Amino acid sequence: MSEVAGLGALVTGGGRGIGAAIATALTRSGAEVTILGRNQAALAARVKAGDAARYVVADVTDEIGFAAIVTKLAADGTIDILVNNAGAAISAPFLKTGSSDFHRMLNVNLMGPMIATQAILPGMIARKFGRIVNIASTAALKGYPYVSAYVASKHALLGLTRSLAVELAKSGVTVNAVCPGFTDTDMVGTSVETVVAKTGRTAEAVRAEFTKSNPMGRLIAPEEVADAVCFLARRDSGAITGTAIAVAGGEI
Ligand SMILES: NC(=O)c1ccc[n+]([C@@H]2O[C@H](COP(=O)([O-])OP(=O)(O)OC[C@H]3O[C@@H](n4cnc5c(N)ncnc54)[C@H](OP(=O)(O)O)[C@@H]3O)[C@@H](O)[C@H]2O)c1
Repeated sequence: MSEVAGLGALVTGGGRGIGAAIATALTRSGAEVTILGRNQAALAARVKAGDAARYVVADVTDEIGFAAIVTKLAADGTIDILVNNAGAAISAPFLKTGSSDFHRMLNVNLMGPMIATQAILPGMIARKFGRIVNIASTAALKGYPYVSAYVASKHALLGLTRSLAVELAKSGVTVNAVCPGFTDTDMVGTSVETVVAKTGRTAEAVRAEFTKSNPMGRLIAPEEVADAVCFLARRDSGAITGTAIAVAGGEI
């Protein structure tokens, strides 16, 4: 039996990008996967394609609404694997990054995972088994220019991961982070467009800048991030907690 077969999983932001790759990989390994996001059409298409068992529409920054939805999900079924993947990035020089930008980044990249974890953790503790995987970033492990709010929010997410891991060490619940480098999704596409619009450089030149930070000279594939998540989610990965796995071609 596959090491995640039969386990229930929730993947936030599972409708596209890295989250969709994670949902697909877990589903192919036999997990019962629920995907969550704002875009109903994208989520429904993934379920129709057989890449997830069901979907839920929710905005992780709607604190009260999101808490109610994940609490209901936890009550209605067993969630053994929680993948906090939904996230967003903004880029601007620090002096042009206002407090509302910092709040926006913290809401989506830190508070979203915190709310989901608070709702789902009690069931995991009661069952003495759980796998929480937070999709952080290399931006949780080092600084990058022009993305201070994003970098701060991802460092915060890694801090939450490490703290919870030791708090829960004897509970059967592991808490880890996966830290991708620049990965080939809409997020990088949007960042390239932003830099092109602000600097007038060509998209090729900006894309080359992103790939240069990876010693392998390429973007990471979403499926490569998904592989690391599946490894951490396995039943027999129970001794691995509080760690941050960089999937970044040697950048870290
Ligand atoms: N791409 C990279 O280079 C890279 C590198 C390191 C880390 N990461 C991290 O990996 C994760 C996934 O990123 P990605 O590259 O796959 O980005 P993406 O292609 O832009 O996808 C973002 C995902 O997050 C969901 N999402 C965003 N805001 C949400 C909200 N308020 N409520 C619910 N869902 C929301 C989106 O769902 P809807 O469209 O349905 O709202 C979408 O599924 C993020 O946490 C990101 O920070 C990405």
